[in-house]
Amino acid sequence: MATIKVLENKRIVLGVTGGIAVYKSATICSRLVQAGAVVDVVMTEAAQEFVTPLTFQALTHRPVHTDMFEITARQNIVHISLADAANLLLIAPATANTIAKLANGLADNLLTAVALATPAPTPILLAPAMETDMWLHPATQANMEKLRGWGVNVVGPAEGRLASGAMGPGRMAEPDEVVSMARIILARNRDLAGQRVVVTAGGTREAIDPVRYVSNHSSGKMGYAIAEVARDRGAQVILITTVNRPEPFGVEIVQVESAQQMLEAVLPATREADILVMAAAVADFRPKTMAEQKIKKKGDTQGLTLEMVRNPDILAEVANQKLAGYGPHLTVGFAAETEDLIKNAKSKLKRKKLDLIAANNVAAADAGFAVDTNRVTLLAGDGSIEELPLMSKIEVAEKIFDAVLRLEQANG
Ligand code: C5P
Repeated sequence: MATIKVLENKRIVLGVTGGIAVYKSATICSRLVQAGAVVDVVMTEAAQEFVTPLTFQALTHRPVHTDMFEITARQNIVHISLADAANLLLIAPATANTIAKLANGLADNLLTAVALATPAPTPILLAPAMETDMWLHPATQANMEKLRGWGVNVVGPAEGRLASGAMGPGRMAEPDEVVSMARIILARNRDLAGQRVVVTAGGTREAIDPVRYVSNHSSGKMGYAIAEVARDRGAQVILITTVNRPEPFGVEIVQVESAQQMLEAVLPATREADILVMAAAVADFRPKTMAEQKIKKKGDTQGLTLEMVRNPDILAEVANQKLAGYGPHLTVGFAAETEDLIKNAKSKLKRKKLDLIAANNVAAADAGFAVDTNRVTLLAGDGSIEELPLMSKIEVAEKIFDAVLRLEQANG
């Protein structure tokens, strides 16, 4: 996927403490740097027993800090300059010992001094990692409660295999989860904060019998990109999906198959929502009946005729719900066309009572189904038309929400 904009140019202090999960910190560090963050690594003495500063220096192209009494190039006091510049202090792994120090305001090494010097509005995220007994110890639990009470964010620990070979809670959250959590935290107070967004993704599957279905080529990539961008911009997101892609962290997933199931999920989800984005390719028709048993071949040449009936139009049902006073104040649809793109999209915008429609020519090889790029034209209810060049689906999603916010502002 393309750039994760929320991390771009963000200053992140990555605190690394001494636990075997240090090997995962290198991956976290690399993902943050790749996403455009400026990462300053601070290692405790114990962390350096597991891995040398050189690893992080190579990943960040920046000096790694280990010494409380280091004088920086500008003669600044290092713990103050790091704490002041940071947009986020992420400590991964956070050992029981460091957690205890943080909960008691100790500042006996560079990392704990940075934590204590971090100004209140700057978020702190901990990814605890330790053996189960240490995690469940009342001292650690009380320390965590205290830190949470101060507004410190926590990701994990997960249950699973620990360094000792034992199973239980204490395993550090996976790098993807830690990075996603960092993104969510940095996305707070962004332009979609406080909004509830429902997104649909994928092609519906209409059952013929227990083993066969009718569907389409939709991969769900556009819908997932929309859900991720909405989350990164601070929204609370429900993703109603027919496909089995890796679940975006921090997004509520509702798995469905058919158009009927999608409708049954969309209506309750949108009752209290602000924005609905229907990126799913909903089948217009479904087999009239689903055979209870697998349909058998008859003879050597006899074919099969399926009678298809119309599926409910989900957007129309949402519009009906809106007339009853519930549902999103802004609805976005997609128009996948193979000819007369603008003309068809315009009429769909009206007919489906949409505020915005993203029209794309699915006949183009670099746009539409299964690829990471898309070329869409955004048509809004206020008559504006924005023809976008070829861009990643993440960037298209960003443009959609830019347009959504513009419409929201115009509607007051
Ligand atoms: O009419 P068409 O299927 O091209 O319209 C596309 C838009 O309508 C998409 O946003 C799609 O998710 C939505 N749709 C729907 N219910 C259907 C068919 C399409 O909500 N039964």
